[in-house]
Amino acid sequence: MSQPTIESILNEKRLFEPPADFAADARIKSMAEYQALYDKAAADPAGFWAELAEQELHWFKKWDTVLDWQPPFAKWFSGGKLNISYNCLDRHLTTWRRNKAALIWEGEPGDSRTLTYAELHREVCQMANVLKDLGVKKGDRVGLYMPMIPEAAIAMLACARIGAPHTVVFGGFSADALRDRLNDAEAKLVITADGGFRKDKVIPLKAAVDQALENNAVPSVENVLVVERTKSGVPMVAGRDHWWHDLQPTASGNCPAEEMDAEDMLFILYTSGTTGKPKGVVHTTGGYNLYTHMTFQWTFDHKDTDVYWCTADVGWITGHSYIVYGPLSNGATSLMYEGVPRPSNPGCFWDVVEKYGVNIFYTAPTAIRAFMKMGEAEPKARDLSSLRILGTVGEPINPEAWVWYQQVIGGGNCPIVDTWWQTETGGFMLTPLPGATPTKPGSATKPFPGIIADVVDLDGNPVGDNEGGYLVIKHPWPSMMRTVYGNEERFRRTYWEHIPPKDGQYLYFAGDGARRDEDGYFWVMGRVDDVLSVSGHRLGTMEIESALVSHPAVAEAAVVGRKNEITGEEVFAFVTLESHHQPSDELKDELKQHVIKEIGIIARPADIRFADSLPKTRSGKIIRRFLRNLASGEDIVGDATTMEDQSVLDKLRQGA
Ligand code: WTA
Repeated sequence: MSQPTIESILNEKRLFEPPADFAADARIKSMAEYQALYDKAAADPAGFWAELAEQELHWFKKWDTVLDWQPPFAKWFSGGKLNISYNCLDRHLTTWRRNKAALIWEGEPGDSRTLTYAELHREVCQMANVLKDLGVKKGDRVGLYMPMIPEAAIAMLACARIGAPHTVVFGGFSADALRDRLNDAEAKLVITADGGFRKDKVIPLKAAVDQALENNAVPSVENVLVVERTKSGVPMVAGRDHWWHDLQPTASGNCPAEEMDAEDMLFILYTSGTTGKPKGVVHTTGGYNLYTHMTFQWTFDHKDTDVYWCTADVGWITGHSYIVYGPLSNGATSLMYEGVPRPSNPGCFWDVVEKYGVNIFYTAPTAIRAFMKMGEAEPKARDLSSLRILGTVGEPINPEAWVWYQQVIGGGNCPIVDTWWQTETGGFMLTPLPGATPTKPGSATKPFPGIIADVVDLDGNPVGDNEGGYLVIKHPWPSMMRTVYGNEERFRRTYWEHIPPKDGQYLYFAGDGARRDEDGYFWVMGRVDDVLSVSGHRLGTMEIESALVSHPAVAEAAVVGRKNEITGEEVFAFVTLESHHQPSDELKDELKQHVIKEIGIIARPADIRFADSLPKTRSGKIIRRFLRNLASGEDIVGDATTMEDQSVLDKLRQGA
């Protein structure tokens, strides 16, 4: 018997060709070129990656084996020796890029700093020597808990340089969350700052570290390095705490990069997931370096004159792969911005674009929807004409938000790259190539060359065109996670066992629903944990939410299932409105009618609740499981500490 899949109801037909002049100048200029790369890679993935590894990276010693696949464990380029910090820094120093800006940094209060490749290299070497002096050796884990300042990138590269895996914990996490992660990784040293600026406030990072380490709660930690950022006068524990500025500037700038095996661990990054303790996603050196390098180069069509800006925090995988490693490995200029749009400066992103002439801009749907909500005045008041590519990541993007992004921010002539990927995948899996792929709003389009993606049912059988199912990857790729740190069993269970191997082929599944249309385009429908079951129809969240967001009054929408005796579940929608729109019963009726018109009676919300804001994770993803509890009038179940703003739930409760 066929297993239940997910029904697809969205019918988005707009198509945008890459502008002809853009395509003419692009690295990959047509679908024919894309297809040729895709076919070549599919015919011989190992050969495809080996050729690029040889051509694009520096190796101290070539590998013995390209791919060793003992499902679900992959090894890429075993026996090969390289160092990602060498590939990000040293190799550029013998070229004209030596004096090119590697990092452009803008602080929230308006201070700024630019580091050339030569300067960044020197600072990284100095930091690497400091770490060594403090007893950090190859293989030791180092915890980072930092604001968005250049020292965060310097610290990551310094760890990589001496072969000490880093584990970056986002600065918005609590002391408890930090403690758990440092303990799981058994970090030997922690790098932090006195504080960071966020939304015009000082985030007390050092105080959180002190709290996390209180009463020897993380026995592995021997030393704490502290960057002075906010000058907030923090207490220092004698013998344990050291100021960065006391040690780093006087350390030697000579520190040859450690020769790492391609399969040596580069970093651990914790993902919260929806249940249970966070998983330490392990990435290794060679495959990760290659894959982030290639995806950055092709998806962002990188040119040496570009100023590239990814608005993510270095605490997320997006910051690792596409602020630090991918861009620097390509010799790009990567912009880091400490601030976020805030009431005192809603247009700050556009100021930064204008000030530095940003060419490639990469952000998340949650930010785009917030901009839509604020209106066009802010972006319209700035010169955004330097932009040539716009990217999005983190959640399915609603087609209306996509079109707004393209029109209002991109002025109608920037290709949009909607990149689907995960902490676990290391780099882009589904993505347009901007000079080649005609784009459809809401679709992450096609697999990157070398990625074999499919949509299957729970038995692993491919579903038909336009049928919803489970998004899987069929062949190992260089930057796939290697394991859950210290827990192989959890790695197997989480990613490889929900959908059993099919005809001996292992299928990687990390929890998203999707459909593939008649043109081979993938449409990610949201997390399968969030699927609703209405009168026997299994509906993904993305499509109903997109229908709501396509109404001019709606800024954001989240839908969940509420128990209904007749239909199993009914659709319950939480909606935030664009400025200048007021909640009313008439508007509720209008929105219900709108959903019926857009996708049909099956998706009609039984109820709609207006809200000021929706509960989100600290990386900006809507948390639907709390809304499910609220819709059913239940208590919130589960850990709310991963939330960005806890007061959002209280407000939603009061609005009931
Ligand atoms: C979601 C972020 C649709 C998806 C890089 C995935 C997306 C999870 C997209 C991973 C996209 C990310 N379209 N959904 N373009 N990008 N997602 O680990 O559910 O923070 O599984 O990595 O975000 O989130 P993570």
